[in-house]
Amino acid sequence: MSHYSIKKLLLGVTGGIAAYKAAELVRLLTKQDIDVQVVMTAAATQFITPVTFQALSGNPVYTDLWQPDVGNGMAHIDLSRQVDAILVAPASADFLSKLVHGAADDLLSTLCLARDCKLLVAPAMNQQMWHNPATQRNIRQLQHDGITVLGPASGAQACGETGLGRMLEPEELLERLLARAQPQLLTGKRILITAGPTQEAIDPVRAITNHSSGKMGYSIARAAIEMGAEVTLVSGPVALTAPANARTLYVTSANEMLTAVENNLQGQDIFISVAAVADYRPQQTSTSKIKKNGTPLTLTLEANPDILATVASRPDAPFCVGFAAESENLLQYAEEKRRRKHLPLIAANIASEALGQDESSLVLIDAQGSHPLPLAPKITLARGLLQHIAAMLDNPTRKIHS
Ligand code: C5P
Repeated sequence: MSHYSIKKLLLGVTGGIAAYKAAELVRLLTKQDIDVQVVMTAAATQFITPVTFQALSGNPVYTDLWQPDVGNGMAHIDLSRQVDAILVAPASADFLSKLVHGAADDLLSTLCLARDCKLLVAPAMNQQMWHNPATQRNIRQLQHDGITVLGPASGAQACGETGLGRMLEPEELLERLLARAQPQLLTGKRILITAGPTQEAIDPVRAITNHSSGKMGYSIARAAIEMGAEVTLVSGPVALTAPANARTLYVTSANEMLTAVENNLQGQDIFISVAAVADYRPQQTSTSKIKKNGTPLTLTLEANPDILATVASRPDAPFCVGFAAESENLLQYAEEKRRRKHLPLIAANIASEALGQDESSLVLIDAQGSHPLPLAPKITLARGLLQHIAAMLDNPTRKIHS
């Protein structure tokens, strides 16, 4: 994955029904404080007007190669020099083919040719057009030329057909764009992360578990990879796709999780224990299904190992980060937990607001005090947490332990 910073983006809009979604994309980008300069092809203006983009971006919209009011009159050079990246969304089949051939017959194609920055395209077209060998050939050539192709997605199309060719949704485009723009703060760092719940078997069909979805741990794994880290993810049973480029190991019980963590601890710089590890397991696991007979059933539970405390107490412990999901007295309980487990950092949240949700908030607590991360998608919180960890590691004079 190639990386670049992104403060100013040139958004190229070409002619396709998905052009209306580009308006929402501009709104999302500006919300992230990214300055957006929109350039439209003539065909795009048949679908949506420049005024819409001007209102949303706060910048004049350019459509004309011969725009007299741009700098030295050379819009095709000027506009691409002022931006960190160009994203063409939607990118029509015709526009992709023009990029392949280096065509320069309108403002957008000319400034793509004259660019000295990263170029990304989000194809949008009818599924038959997408599958056409000519388009597929073009896509391979664009990738070979170092252009990043985002999508397309599959699903119902404006023409009534169903299949691959839809432009990625604006939220997804923003996410992909930001993922590639993360500062490489964790290059060379090895990070071990636990995620999800554990399941403690009662018998072959029943288990004690909890409502952890694994979303926070998986988001941290993704964000760490984006920031350049080498990630090992030890995951309990979840319904999530493993992050690309993480080494993911699946476990079921707390004991299995502890074994997987200990077997993979050597050489790790950071251990982030996000998993909601079951505190207790049945003392006995029945090998056959327990039959109901109408009388109360008593299960005797025994304590599971505390994986985080076990790792943090080792003399060769990596930088250990815990999570504290509390229902009340958040700061006090989390700080007590941080000290008890000898952690430089703990991330605290209200359990009912975090478990299974896509968005949450966190308070990071270290020896210096507390640092709130406001309500945001978990991937955003993950980036904030990792930036905080990177800053702590970067500053060895900073007091790490309590
Ligand atoms: O003490 P409490 O369970 O609230 O601590 C939460 C933190 O400890 C989390 O980071 C969790 O991953 C970790 N933990 C663990 N093993 C346990 C229980 C919790 O690693 N058995």
